[in-house]
Amino acid sequence: MAASSVGHENWSSRSAFILAAVGSAVGLGNMWRFPAEAGENGGGAFVLFYIFCVLLIGLPVLLSEVLIGRHGQANAPESVRRLARDSNASGGWGFIGSIGVFAAFLILSFYCVVGGWVVYYIGIFAGDLFQTGLTGGAFEGRAAEDVEGLLPGLFGNGAMMVGLNLGFLAATMFFVARGVSSGIEWVAVYLMPLFFLLFLGITIYGAFTGNFGDAVAYLFTFDFSKLTPAVMLAAVGQAFFSLSLGVAGMMTYGAYANRETNLGHTSGIIAGADTAVALLAGLAIFPIVFAAGLSASIGPGLMFQSLPIAFQAMPFGSLIGLAFFIMIFFAALTSSVSLLEAPTAWTYERFKITRPLATVIVGLGAAVLGVLSALSFNTLGEFYPLGFIPLFAETNFFDTLDGVTAKLFMPIGAILTCIFVGWIADARLIDNENGLDGGLHLLWRVLVRFVCPIVLTVILVMGLLA
Ligand code: TRP
Repeated sequence: MAASSVGHENWSSRSAFILAAVGSAVGLGNMWRFPAEAGENGGGAFVLFYIFCVLLIGLPVLLSEVLIGRHGQANAPESVRRLARDSNASGGWGFIGSIGVFAAFLILSFYCVVGGWVVYYIGIFAGDLFQTGLTGGAFEGRAAEDVEGLLPGLFGNGAMMVGLNLGFLAATMFFVARGVSSGIEWVAVYLMPLFFLLFLGITIYGAFTGNFGDAVAYLFTFDFSKLTPAVMLAAVGQAFFSLSLGVAGMMTYGAYANRETNLGHTSGIIAGADTAVALLAGLAIFPIVFAAGLSASIGPGLMFQSLPIAFQAMPFGSLIGLAFFIMIFFAALTSSVSLLEAPTAWTYERFKITRPLATVIVGLGAAVLGVLSALSFNTLGEFYPLGFIPLFAETNFFDTLDGVTAKLFMPIGAILTCIFVGWIADARLIDNENGLDGGLHLLWRVLVRFVCPIVLTVILVMGLLA
């Protein structure tokens, strides 16, 4: 069995681990990216295939990742290496962890840009609350186009975009620098329960006021002709993004779990909570979109443009808007913290430097890429880094990072993880640790060994060629 790293930290309890992992999973991916992807990929076909991906691919991969981490008790590349060595396989398998750490770093850089938009809207609604008072709707007396224009307005302001991005990144760095129990766990334990409280309140409110029936029809009507290879790849990518998979995030969190934690059950809770929040977010956002007569397929602007319009007509609109964006901020912060933790844990263990120093080094790197992403909405709008590849033609820096990580790194990382856990790692080591018994255990083995790698490879190849 692998020895713990010097100074290796652990979660203080099983529920702390669950809250941190759910905190990592639930974030902008659920509230902002899921509705946008669903809208851009035709609604129902995407959503149902997404649920299929979570159950058949996401869940088995999630269990595999936390298992690798818990066995290794170290940063992601080192954990994979230790499990490989303990299985008499080559330590070279550690490269799965290495690519993952790199991809997490890339995601962090653009994730904090969107985190900055959330902070902007908190400011907007707070200012509006101050102006219009408690009971009225938000932005009283302003035209809907005006409210919709808030986001393009922000996009046009490069300095503001960069400032907000760096502010959000700095907040993330603050908590990661404080360490596992007093930083990462602290945000999860205090912010996630608050998030769920606000989220339930707002969803129930939305269900009673918006165009709920149309949204249900849109999200759950399965039209087989709409399920193209590109839609499938988008759904797989979204499932991985939402569950924080394929890029070392969950390996890193698994490493702080103790031997007593039942990883099978825990994975089920994480995937269940994450999927519930994504679907509820869709059910909260689309009724409002349809009621306001907006298009479902506008993409990234969906959450930021449609919801503020809806809050206009609501009593207590400014207050609810403010609460909503504070809630998104909490969810986003617990996720960005996990994105920063994966590369940071590697950096400080690998180079034997302190955690705060490693946090600063990784954070500075993410700041540089983040500025390029922030500017792709204005000054660098015409800069298409991978423009020579059809899949990324006319795709700016921000969208390229998002696309490359979700459509390449995550599926490839997951395929390799399945091959490693299913075929290379010593089955006895893994079976003792996964917390599954009987039929479930067999099902998991079959999924990891055969179904996931094959289905993923087919979707990846078809999606890329399409
Ligand atoms: N899952 C998060 C979300 O839905 C994003 C995220 C956090 C993530 N950590 C990750 C994505 C690690 C990939 C890998 O917002």
